[in-house]
Amino acid sequence: MNKYFLTCPRGLEEVTKTQISSYINEPINVDKGGVHFSGNLKDMYTINLHSRTGMRLLKNIFSFNLQQPQDLYKSIYNLDWVKFIDVSKTFSIKTKLKSNLFNNASSVSLKIKDAIVDNIRKKKGKRPFINKKNPDVGLHIFIINKTVKIYLNTTGIPLHKRGYRSKIHKAALNESIASGIILLSNWNKEDTFYDIMCGSGTLPIEASMIANRIAPGLFRNNFAFQKFDNYNKSLWRKLIDNAKNNIIFNPNINILGSDIIKDNIQLSINSSKKIGIESYIKFKVLNMNDISVVDSKGTLIINPPYGNRVGKNINLNELYKNIGDVFKKKFIGYDTYIFSGNLEAVKSVGLRSKKRIILKNGTLDCRLIYYPISSGKFN
Ligand SMILES: C[S@@+](CC[C@H](N)C(=O)[O-])C[C@H]1O[C@@H](n2cnc3c(N)ncnc32)[C@H](O)[C@@H]1O
Repeated sequence: MNKYFLTCPRGLEEVTKTQISSYINEPINVDKGGVHFSGNLKDMYTINLHSRTGMRLLKNIFSFNLQQPQDLYKSIYNLDWVKFIDVSKTFSIKTKLKSNLFNNASSVSLKIKDAIVDNIRKKKGKRPFINKKNPDVGLHIFIINKTVKIYLNTTGIPLHKRGYRSKIHKAALNESIASGIILLSNWNKEDTFYDIMCGSGTLPIEASMIANRIAPGLFRNNFAFQKFDNYNKSLWRKLIDNAKNNIIFNPNINILGSDIIKDNIQLSINSSKKIGIESYIKFKVLNMNDISVVDSKGTLIINPPYGNRVGKNINLNELYKNIGDVFKKKFIGYDTYIFSGNLEAVKSVGLRSKKRIILKNGTLDCRLIYYPISSGKFN
């Protein structure tokens, strides 16, 4: 059994735990920015394939305590690095600090890199090189108070990169966050799911993958563990086959996505085709003001412009006010949600919210705000 830490966007820790709990027998413990659990090789492959809200699955390879900062180099140098980093492979180091012992993560990473390189050169006569962008071996170091924990990234590029996009929309939502938002909304799959500002279609596509039981990792073509010495190709293939057999396309599930920009809808359709779900999502070019008939109940989630990547030149207060008007006029009976990083603009929505969930979108503080729209009074 190994110890794993599955990282996720802040605010999605509980959802991450719940979503993977059907795949893991051991207890799962929530921490800030991820969940801890123990597991074997199969568990590691399974979570990389099935976690919808996780970002990187990290395997703990070393843990030790440090008394003083000067001991860092020696403690790292004394570990068995040749077991994890071949001289012909590249590596990278990311350090997170929450300790009085150090205050600069980059200089700590540099010290650790020196110790690792010196250790391997002493044993092998050659040194491995750093590749920050696309390393063969990704090391993640957490120094919390006096404890140093060293992890190996088993995922590689983060899990939100599902592999279904051919071109990226400049404001596309992170797929893990999109999935987390849908799971947080408790969308009932018997009712309509609608995103009226769908951009490149992330929310409807993730909703369709959840509803049709499509594993989020099925369309990725590389994971870091595939470069590891102990890579078990037949086990991985078996898990992929099981995941494919688990898909049940349900034609009764009603998922809709619309956007005012035609190119965005084309991106959405292209991505849905890559997954084979194009006939299960209805995408349409439509200004939200022109939406006419919708079902009497459902879940609507939108991610309007925040004003940083898109919406710089538009009046956001007016747009958000308009969103509130559309919700209360056209979506009576719906559970409506806005996911936004512009906390000032959401004040203009003018509806009473029932719940606000804090989520981090990268470094941006965002809110998922729930507005139930009931008939009669506009709340
Ligand atoms: C932040 S982006 C959404 C990104 C999307 N969640 C994704 O993952 O690609 C906001 C979207 O709102 C759309 N939009 C703005 N005004 C609109 C309107 N009146 N009706 C419909 N869509 C609109 C924009 O075209 C843009 O694609």
